[in-house]
Amino acid sequence: MKILGIETSCDETAAAVVEDGVKILSNQIASQVELHARYGGIVPEVASRQHLLAIIPIIDQAMAQAQATWRDLDGIAVTIGPGLAGSLLIGVNVAKAIALANRLPITGVNHLEGHIYANWLANRDINFAPRFPLVCLIVSGGHSDLVLMRGHGDYVVLGRTRDDAAGEAFDKAARILGLGYPGGPAIEQAASSGTIASIQLPRAWLKGTTDFSFSGVKTALLRLVEGGKVSSVADAAASFQEAVVDVLVTKTVAVAKECRVKQILLAGGVASNELLRQRLVKNSPLPVLIPEPVLCTDNAAMIAACGYFRFKAGKVDGLDLDVIPSLKLA
Ligand code: KG4
Ligand code: ZN
Repeated sequence: MKILGIETSCDETAAAVVEDGVKILSNQIASQVELHARYGGIVPEVASRQHLLAIIPIIDQAMAQAQATWRDLDGIAVTIGPGLAGSLLIGVNVAKAIALANRLPITGVNHLEGHIYANWLANRDINFAPRFPLVCLIVSGGHSDLVLMRGHGDYVVLGRTRDDAAGEAFDKAARILGLGYPGGPAIEQAASSGTIASIQLPRAWLKGTTDFSFSGVKTALLRLVEGGKVSSVADAAASFQEAVVDVLVTKTVAVAKECRVKQILLAGGVASNELLRQRLVKNSPLPVLIPEPVLCTDNAAMIAACGYFRFKAGKVDGLDLDVIPSLKLA
C-alpha cells in the first residue's frame, strides 16, 4: 500500500510517499527556516503564503522521486493539527483536491502521532520495530509529552509540560545567548565546544508527577546573562542542554519502568539532539528506538507512515475533513 503524506503544520512544506507504513520511497522537504530567521521566529502569515508557493512543486518532487503516478497511490494522509491554522489549511485543501480528482481515500493525521510513527520508518532490522506497550517521549517546538502507547492509535498521555515545551526552551535560550534561530541546533552546536562545570542551572523535577517545566531553567539562564555572570556562551549552552536533557531522560526512564513497558521511543524535533539520544540509550534499561535525525524534525514520511496504520484500522475521512489547530493526542 502506497500512501502520499502531506505536512504543512508549521514552517516546513513536505511531501513523501511511503510503502506499507515503513518503507520510504520519497521524502521531500522545503524548509522556510531562512525566511523566518530574520524575524527570530515563525511569522504565521508568511508561513502560509510560502506553503502555497511550495506545496505543488514539493508534491511533484515526491511523486517523481518515488517514480509513482496517482494510479500507484492507495491513499492520501495529511496533517490536520496541531499547528498554525493558515498553514494547515494549505496542506489539507491540496490533499482533498488530489483525493477528489483521483478518487483516493484520505485520512487526517495528528502531527504528534505522526512524530511517533517516524519510529516505524525503519529501513532497518525488522527486529527493531516498535513493540507495545511502549512509552514515547515527544519533544518538539510546541510539545513535551510523555505518552503510553498500548497499540496502534491507542494513547494515554501520562505527562506534559506545564509551561514551555523542550524545543521552545531551546529556542528561547538561544535567543538569550544571542545564538541563531532555530535554537535547538544552535545550542547543540555552541555546546559542542563548551563544558558544564562553570555554570549551574536548576532542574524542575516536579516530584511525584510526570509533568515537565522548562520556564525556570530558561529564566535562571536569563538572570545569569543579565547579571554578567556568563563569560562563555559555549559553557552556558552546554549547561542549558545538560539541564534539559537530564530532566527529560530521568523522568522518561522512571515512567517507563513504572509502566513496565517493553520499549522507549523518542520523537519530535528535539529528538535529533545528540546528547539526548545518547543519554537516553545509556540510561535506559529498556530498548530505545529513535528515528534518524532527519525523520525527527518535521517531515511528511512520518505522516504517511501514520496514515497507513490509520487506513489499516479503517480510519478514512470524508471530504469535509477540516483543520484542528489545537488538536490533542488523547
Ligand atoms: O518537531 P519539530 O521539527 O517541529 C514542531 O513540531 O514543533 O521541532 C522543532 C523544535 C524546535 O524548537 C527546534 O529548536 C528543536 O525542535 N530542535 C532541537 C534540535 N533540532 C531541532 N532541539 C535541540 N537539539 C537539536 N539538535
Ligand atoms: Zn513537529
